[in-house]
Amino acid sequence: MSPMLSGVMTPIPFNKPTIVGNELAYVAEAVRSGKVGADGVFTDRCCRLLERRLGIAKILLTTSCTSALEIACQLADLKPGDEVLVPSFTYVSTASAVVRLGARPVFLDIRPDTFNLDELEVEKAITPRTRAIIAVHYGGIACAMTELQAIAQKHGLFLIEDAAHGVDAFFAGQALGSMGSLGCLSFHETKNCSCGQGGALCINRPELADRAERIRAKGTNRRDYQRGVADHYTWTDLGSGYAPNELTAAFLLGQLEQLDTLTARRRVQHARYHDLLSKYATVGRLTLPASLENCQSNGHLFPVLLAGPEQRGALMSALAQAGIQAAPHYVPLHRSPMGRQWGIVPSPLRVTEAVSGRLLRLPLFHELTEAQQARVAATVGEFLEGSQRRAA
Ligand SMILES: Cc1ncc(COP(=O)(O)O)c(C=O)c1O
Repeated sequence: MSPMLSGVMTPIPFNKPTIVGNELAYVAEAVRSGKVGADGVFTDRCCRLLERRLGIAKILLTTSCTSALEIACQLADLKPGDEVLVPSFTYVSTASAVVRLGARPVFLDIRPDTFNLDELEVEKAITPRTRAIIAVHYGGIACAMTELQAIAQKHGLFLIEDAAHGVDAFFAGQALGSMGSLGCLSFHETKNCSCGQGGALCINRPELADRAERIRAKGTNRRDYQRGVADHYTWTDLGSGYAPNELTAAFLLGQLEQLDTLTARRRVQHARYHDLLSKYATVGRLTLPASLENCQSNGHLFPVLLAGPEQRGALMSALAQAGIQAAPHYVPLHRSPMGRQWGIVPSPLRVTEAVSGRLLRLPLFHELTEAQQARVAATVGEFLEGSQRRAA
């Protein structure tokens, strides 16, 4: 189809949800079955599929990655005054899950290549109050897990993986979410594989599974009752409504069954942006996302770095004028009102500050075509060449 529609360029959104398989048929099947509450056959099928594919012993579906992070922090037994090491460059939920329990996020800097927690900052920040590390795998690229696992083990800390971006991405052959004590996944509408709003908790320490099920089931032993192990169910822990309904799980199953296709296409699109944009890497200081040895990314995001906040703003405007939606990402949490109130910042967060002001995510979604990617790249290129000419 021509990009021109009535003389106007067809807009390219930043993200667009997609149907790739049996999503709608499964939702209809769930409705016909009369079982649309939590924990029916579709939830079960999603969990078994994910466990097999990611090589994880036990997965619980949740209403979001936020919910999974909240359960994970509760399983880490965080108490008021405890400290948890987190990057400042992350989504609110990574830190709010900590603060809900009265514990304090200790905001650390990120690496300039992957925008992940800088593993060299972690050990220096450990105090007698430190209980856990939350490793955020930004854009589906793994944190330095070998180093983080060693630090967590040495100091007896819980390692929680925030793999919201990392479904079907791997580090040295291991799935993101499978390497910490617990891993948290997201199926939010912006993710590679989505059900609108959803998530999962990966339980890599079997002794945590029973309590995780209770917390997820509103603090009750309902799962024991459903399995016939208890003859009634009752309130046994502090929990919440963290289990998704079957309509959501049915939709998600349709997507999960197509994970091969979803991930493969995203990787191709990611590589294509690299090819199209690499020639501009020397013009106007455009930095493209790093690809690390050992990391098999799922190509979730395509974040580029511009020279500074002004250039990023100007590029966003140029893209918007061409009908292309691009998006910055996190405002560092240590600068947010809640971050200032609850957080600890042991050392300056120079990379975080620089990256958050310069980063721009280009459109990336399943149906994005080769021609659309070429149009995005051409618009970025024209902008950078124009800026260079103006500066000369
Ligand atoms: C790093 C990170 N963690 C957690 C979340 C929260 O995910 P959800 O929307 O599934 O709760 C997000 C949201 O995108 C995120 O970027």
